Amino acid sequence: MVKISPSVLTSDFLSLADDIKKLEAAGVDMLHLDVMDGIFVPNISFGVPVIKSIKAHSNIPLDVHLMIDRPHRYIKEFAQYADYLGFHYEAGSDNAELLKEIRELGCKSCITIKPCSSAEEIFDLLPLCDMVLVMSVEPGFGGQKFMPSALDKLSKLKAESERLGLEIELEVDGGINGETAPLAIKAGATVLVAGNYLFSAENMAERVDYIKNI
Ligand code: DX5
Ligand code: ZN
Repeated sequence: MVKISPSVLTSDFLSLADDIKKLEAAGVDMLHLDVMDGIFVPNISFGVPVIKSIKAHSNIPLDVHLMIDRPHRYIKEFAQYADYLGFHYEAGSDNAELLKEIRELGCKSCITIKPCSSAEEIFDLLPLCDMVLVMSVEPGFGGQKFMPSALDKLSKLKAESERLGLEIELEVDGGINGETAPLAIKAGATVLVAGNYLFSAENMAERVDYIKNI
């Protein structure tokens, strides 16, 4: 069964505690937290203090998606609260070293690729990854349209990780909804990030159920 990692980026942060309770009750697998620095992406979201509060409030695994420049500068701070800790292949750190460091810090390591990067570029990093995140929109904003080019990347990453005998979660992020979720799952995604699709719903639990039963 596919895992769901709701992105809280488009939620009302003043009702986040209630929303997290509802999502937990709906059976989501983790919570996707989008950290943006206004440099790597043209938007600013939230940082360590918010993630620290969420961690103190909930037992749900935290899936932290760093969209920040040279992420190695802040990795220790985020690692205190993250379960999955991911950063961008394009963000200017030594990718292999950072993946190793994330594991040493006790988190699951995740590398993320933007739409401009190919699957093949990260093949040699796969043994260092517990999860790979394929962006299906340009990072920076929720509510964008799914880019089908992500599907081919998911298939290639699935084939390569199987060839290498690795068990890696394949996560897809951006524009996931009732129509695009089945396509992503068919291509090999094992974790779906969903922002607007869940947070615009009258009943989030129904949509979680729908995706989990695809
Ligand atoms: C975009 C973020 C996504 C986004 C997903 O930069 O990484 O996690 O919030 O939102 P939806 O599902 O609305 O595209
Ligand atoms: Zn994200």
